[in-house]
Amino acid sequence: MIEFSHVYKTYPGPTHALRDVELRVEKGEFVFLTGPSGAGKTTLFKMLSAYDKVTSGQIMVAGFDLTKIQEYEIPIFRRKIGVVFQDFKLLKDRTIAENVAIPLMIRGDRPQSIERRVREVLDQVGLRDRAHTLPEFCSGGEQQRAAIARAIVHQPGILIADEPTGNLDPKLAEEIMDLLERLCAQGTTVFVATHDHELVKRRKKRVLSLFKGQIQEGFL
Ligand SMILES: Nc1ncnc2c1ncn2[C@@H]1O[C@H](COP(=O)(O)OP(=O)(O)O)[C@@H](O)[C@H]1O
Ligand SMILES: [Mg+2]
Repeated sequence: MIEFSHVYKTYPGPTHALRDVELRVEKGEFVFLTGPSGAGKTTLFKMLSAYDKVTSGQIMVAGFDLTKIQEYEIPIFRRKIGVVFQDFKLLKDRTIAENVAIPLMIRGDRPQSIERRVREVLDQVGLRDRAHTLPEFCSGGEQQRAAIARAIVHQPGILIADEPTGNLDPKLAEEIMDLLERLCAQGTTVFVATHDHELVKRRKKRVLSLFKGQIQEGFL
């Protein structure tokens, strides 16, 4: 469960990136976060994944109070979430399988169990035959699927994706959205930021819209 209460984020300037944000996402929900560039979507996701602190207000995610979280607790919290970015952020000198294995290696899983889990998740995203390929030899859609595989390999309850289809053509974007919907159907809470209204309209999911740091709820 994700809950924001009266969340404000002000950057030096000052820029009021989030203003009195209230939202609640239940376990297993699929929710879109829309809004034009500069609306505050990435800021909201950074707060939600404990990459930055709010100026005021409270955020509860998976039982953690992110306004009170201690440095040493952050890695423990991150195991509960998976994060996908627009620009994939794959390591160029590692194969797809090696990239996907990273969260499990950090966690200290045994090599055998890492191998088994990586194979399973690559099957799930349809990348079995790309396991030993370097990212640069994969298409944009394949690279984004690898980034999603890496975000879910440790089986987080919550998947946050910030403009995951921003660099993809419309057909690949639909494929990625299909994959995110399947993950949700399997029990993962999925929260996706996008400024692509057409894509959102076709999916008929719950939509939270940000405009100048303020939230409005509705179905597009
Ligand atoms: N690190 C930062 N320092 C100062 N201003 C920032 C920073 N990050 C974002 N902003 C500002 O906050 C506002 C919201 O940005 P952002 O969350 O990136 O929006 P979106 O993801 O919807 O495009 C913008 O006005 C942006 O310029
Ligand atoms: Mg953004």
